[in-house]
Amino acid sequence: MCGIIGVVGLQDAAPRLVDGLKRLEYRGYDSAGIATLIGDGIDRRRAEGKLVNLANRLKEDPLPGTVGIGHTRWATHGVPTERNAHPHTDGRVAVVHNGIIENYATLRAELQAAGCEFRSDTDTETVVHLISHYWQNGVDPVAATHKALKRLEGAFALAIIFTGEHNLMIAARKGSPLAVGYGDGEMYIGSDALALSHLTNRLSYLEEGDWAVVRRDGVEFRTLGGDVVERAVHVSALSGAMIGKGEHRHYMAKEIFEQPQVIGDSLNALVNPSTRAVSLPDLPFDLATVRRVTIVACGTSYYAGLVAKYWLESVARVPVDIDVASEFRYREPVLEDGGLALFISQSGETADTLAALRYCKEHGQHVVSLVNVPESTMARESHAILQTLAGPEIGVASTKAFTTQLTVLACLTLAVARARGAISAAREAELSQALIEVPARAGEVLNHDERIRAIAEDVMLARDVLYLGRGASYPIALEGALKLKEISYIHAEGYAAGEMKHGPIALIDDSVPVVVIAPGDSLLDKTISNVQETVARGGRVIAFSDADGVERMKDSAVYSITLPAVDPFVAPILYAIPVQLLAYHVAVLKGTDVDQPRNLAKSVTVE
Ligand code: F6R
Repeated sequence: MCGIIGVVGLQDAAPRLVDGLKRLEYRGYDSAGIATLIGDGIDRRRAEGKLVNLANRLKEDPLPGTVGIGHTRWATHGVPTERNAHPHTDGRVAVVHNGIIENYATLRAELQAAGCEFRSDTDTETVVHLISHYWQNGVDPVAATHKALKRLEGAFALAIIFTGEHNLMIAARKGSPLAVGYGDGEMYIGSDALALSHLTNRLSYLEEGDWAVVRRDGVEFRTLGGDVVERAVHVSALSGAMIGKGEHRHYMAKEIFEQPQVIGDSLNALVNPSTRAVSLPDLPFDLATVRRVTIVACGTSYYAGLVAKYWLESVARVPVDIDVASEFRYREPVLEDGGLALFISQSGETADTLAALRYCKEHGQHVVSLVNVPESTMARESHAILQTLAGPEIGVASTKAFTTQLTVLACLTLAVARARGAISAAREAELSQALIEVPARAGEVLNHDERIRAIAEDVMLARDVLYLGRGASYPIALEGALKLKEISYIHAEGYAAGEMKHGPIALIDDSVPVVVIAPGDSLLDKTISNVQETVARGGRVIAFSDADGVERMKDSAVYSITLPAVDPFVAPILYAIPVQLLAYHVAVLKGTDVDQPRNLAKSVTVE
């Protein structure tokens, strides 16, 4: 979602703001803008579209000033035009905002009645006029902002500057993440550590309901009630260098090809290669006592959770409930005390997942988050975290985050199975060994890149594509369909192969490619039967299987890719890779914006 940066600095703010926005562009890219304090006024530059448009505008018409705020937008209220781009200002106060002000309509009517003139269609502009209104009516900017914050409903991260106040910026957080960075005689505000990594690695995170008065020599954190509070300083491990694409055309390709490395890194942290035993970080509860697991996540992370349900139930013999977070949080789920609630999120900031986490915490669950960002809000609010070591994922479509989530979830499964006495030491060693070999096997899968590109030339012509899988391959079918639709805009659906004949089979004709995820497991025979049913109706099958499966489908599949024969336990991790490659190549051939697909953003901090 929208990205925010602010600098109360000693040098020109504009280039530093734009540099920060480059690091935040993955959050939204429909428009961008910056505003700085100049003499007794505020000036701004904004541009519709990608950040490069703003950078070009600034080249033609630079913006001086050492204090400024910047924003990259993912539209909520108001179409993505320059008029609706942030920062918003009335000439006295300028605001950048991530989130949604839910009571904006009431506030807007009240402010209009008081004579305020609105110049955009956004909810954010109400914040500008509200603060300005209180400031004009006798109180100082800090008190005016405090008064305004108390009236805002919804979710927000805000950064605010005030004309003539060259040593003041206010940050506020309710529902959307925000950090304050410490420099040398300077201070910064950013949506995350990455946004500020070119300026500092020393950060404090605002907690829910906090607001912060930031001046060059430091920051004072306050609660909404007005109490001054302390917030710890963290040192981020991120380097200030821009993350490059290496030899690849897109971040997504780079991230797909990094998978052997980052799966290996994530495994090394959890599996001892000599004893072939998994050891998780210390948990503040005993895994042996867990009677039920509740998994909650969104999107691709939800599909990782769905694979984990198959694993935890079949290997660790523990019952698992799983939900998408946007449904879980409002359906008043019944939770038994002492259950394990597991939240999966690359960003650790997804609004719905975070709300579900808080619900589970209030309802007596042991709350564990599996995140890729250890400083994220979910990580900070959980009883324990498991970490994927995927490194920053910049492509909006999740790839290496997914396979590293699966890797850690496989380790968790083995740890739970051992704690519950559901697995023998010999079987644990066997499955750990299969996991240890995944990075090498993933490298072999990537060797099919060229061949998958050739298949993509055919798939790119399709209007609809179906993905089928059974058991733990069913979530991979769902993930394959999600990847294809989000970056190539081709309609795609994933189905449990056995469900085909209950409806979706009506869609099949010779224009519909059917991608079949068919590792050599106990369900292969059944999947092959479904392939026959598909072929009998003219469907064109693209089979991903091992040598035996490919041989058995050789007369039915139009295309097939032979993947390494592995223990079925680790197959979901490996079979995720060809579906990523297929989606990637189709998107490249169609000429879509692979890393920043339309309408999407990473880190979904609004519900
Ligand atoms: C799809 C994708 C999204 C995310 C989802 C959850 O490629 O990236 O579906 O998986 O928005 O995000 P996190 O994992 O950050 O909670």
